[in-house]
Amino acid sequence: MADQAGRQIDTVMQESRLFPPRPSFSDKARIKSLAEYEALWNEAATDPAKFWGDMAREELHWFEPFTKSLNWNEPFAEWFVGGKTNASYNCLDAHLEAGQGDRVALLWEGEPGDTRRLTYTELHREVCKFANCLKTLGIGEGDVVSIYMPMVPELAIAMLACARIGAVHSVIFAGFSAEAIADRNNDAQAKVQITADGAWRRGNILPLKETVDAALVKSPSVKHCIVLDRVNEAIEMKVGRDYWWHELMDAASDDCPAAPLDSEAPLYILYTSGSTGKPKGIKHTTAGYNLFAKKTFQWVFDHRAEDIFWCTADCGWVTGHSYVVYGPLSAGATCLMYEGAPNFPAEDRFWELVEKYRVSVFYTAPTAIRAFIKWGDEHVEKHDLSSLRLLGTVGEGINPEAWMWYHNKIGGERCPIVDTWWQTETGGIMMSPLPGAIPTKPGSCTKPLPGIIPEIVDESGKPVGKNQGGWLTISHPWPGMLRGIWGDNERYQEVYWSKVPGKYLAGDNARCDEDGYYWIMGRIDDVLNVSGHRLSTIEIESALVSHPNVAEAAAVGRPDDLKGEAVAVFVTLKNVEPTEELRNALKQHVRKEIGALAQPDDIRFTNALPKTRSGKIMRRLLKDIAAGKETVGDTTTLEDYTVLANLREEE
Ligand code: WTA
Repeated sequence: MADQAGRQIDTVMQESRLFPPRPSFSDKARIKSLAEYEALWNEAATDPAKFWGDMAREELHWFEPFTKSLNWNEPFAEWFVGGKTNASYNCLDAHLEAGQGDRVALLWEGEPGDTRRLTYTELHREVCKFANCLKTLGIGEGDVVSIYMPMVPELAIAMLACARIGAVHSVIFAGFSAEAIADRNNDAQAKVQITADGAWRRGNILPLKETVDAALVKSPSVKHCIVLDRVNEAIEMKVGRDYWWHELMDAASDDCPAAPLDSEAPLYILYTSGSTGKPKGIKHTTAGYNLFAKKTFQWVFDHRAEDIFWCTADCGWVTGHSYVVYGPLSAGATCLMYEGAPNFPAEDRFWELVEKYRVSVFYTAPTAIRAFIKWGDEHVEKHDLSSLRLLGTVGEGINPEAWMWYHNKIGGERCPIVDTWWQTETGGIMMSPLPGAIPTKPGSCTKPLPGIIPEIVDESGKPVGKNQGGWLTISHPWPGMLRGIWGDNERYQEVYWSKVPGKYLAGDNARCDEDGYYWIMGRIDDVLNVSGHRLSTIEIESALVSHPNVAEAAAVGRPDDLKGEAVAVFVTLKNVEPTEELRNALKQHVRKEIGALAQPDDIRFTNALPKTRSGKIMRRLLKDIAAGKETVGDTTTLEDYTVLANLREEE
């Protein structure tokens, strides 16, 4: 079985290095030994509902206590039934009440170098005020608020303000196109849009408001738009629809008690790619998600009061939701938030920030690590990284070479690395080393967290043996798990709960080795992982065939040193000759339809695509061709062998 990039499996199969936690780390850690971890895991596995229930009573604030830990009516879970809580309360008020209001919640740096610092008291005040602004526009419990913003404190403020009044946020990454925003707004029936005039990216301005204007023409449910003045750009403000953030805030009261919300009140929707063209609105609810984000943050990042935690993810992705906002803030952590690119104004920007803010825990993506390696060690060596004590990765597998570089160059051989496996759907980290307890192996996410029971099965649902690849499933519901796909229970059931009875199907292949360590081997479906971002091949193909000159298109992943996977597409044309101009036009077209992150890296024009006799495009063959490999495996179902021969000639 090959991994998503068809590449790293050979090397990880031979990986046998083991890095036990140093005693000096373990002594101070929350979970100090393998034995302690195992005892906790076993206790949780004996009765997960009780385990999480006891924890929820302790870790969250309850306006009204819950009466039952779990109602499980597969595939629908209700956690902490009958309880009332509020995620914004848990992230803010709880700390004020504990006399911790003066602690710094957010340290922020903009790309141009401007800085801000918000204590928990200050963040609380901003959130209360903005919640009142939303109320003025008629937003209340259950209403969907669409957020399309740069990584500025106001993004977190907007999310928490929604949570405070029971509105449901839908954050859309600020790299998506107007079309993509409109699709998401319509699917969620969003009522308000929050955006900024623009965002800084490598010294240039991304015109966010202009993109939103184009999206709102096609989003009839959105009645109002709130605009943050971030870059001082001249933009159009539509009278009666658009409001400046600062003008609304000037008039708003800072008194807004957190609404007591049902445990299962929806907290947010986050769209992610699946194996069809239409992104799925993953639904997360209040209490279970909040508990899971908080507890996994504390366990995996071994949180200590003096830490400066920096998760480099954008809030447009789930990592930003759980480990920039809800997890760290409910734990009372001090987080660094950075607005811009890692290589602006120079390739050492991240290390400059680590040094300047004395970051102690640093969480990033393997694709970023590969870029740092390429940019050269001199950028790292310029800076004092001695404040770091723990490193993490997320989003895709990390190849052992990159792991070793991270360990040596960034971690100075002293920081444990937590390779965290999880998904938008899981709400928080599912498998990861606990850094004081579990020895790490480069390329493995090691073991499941307490309360998480994975099992690898074959296509008939039977457990496979040690070191056998198979489908990764989870056996018991957990508090952070998605509660459905927005507006589509059937698809939820179908995608996650139908192929293996009684288990959550993650969509990844994995194997478990003789030490009980898990190794993720890539997706089982047509989902690409490009720089740690999920893209569906069908989404890209649909975008391409919506171009008037395209007859048919097939998208596949091709191994790429930096991105993990690059997007390679094969296109047949309608009545036009292939030209370089058309190739560029098609790239731009995908950018416009989905966003820059989906822009194909390679476009090959061809006369025909290889298909099975029943007419299915044989992506496996195209994948080999895109990777420049000999075609391997069974081609007996190929309808027309000359297609394959021609494709090879066209290379
Ligand atoms: C992949 C990101 C290997 C995996 C939090 C998963 C990983 C998908 C890892 C989810 C990891 C994430 N090792 N693969 N540590 N972390 N993945 O929803 O294929 O954007 O299913 O969530 O990324 O991506 P998503």
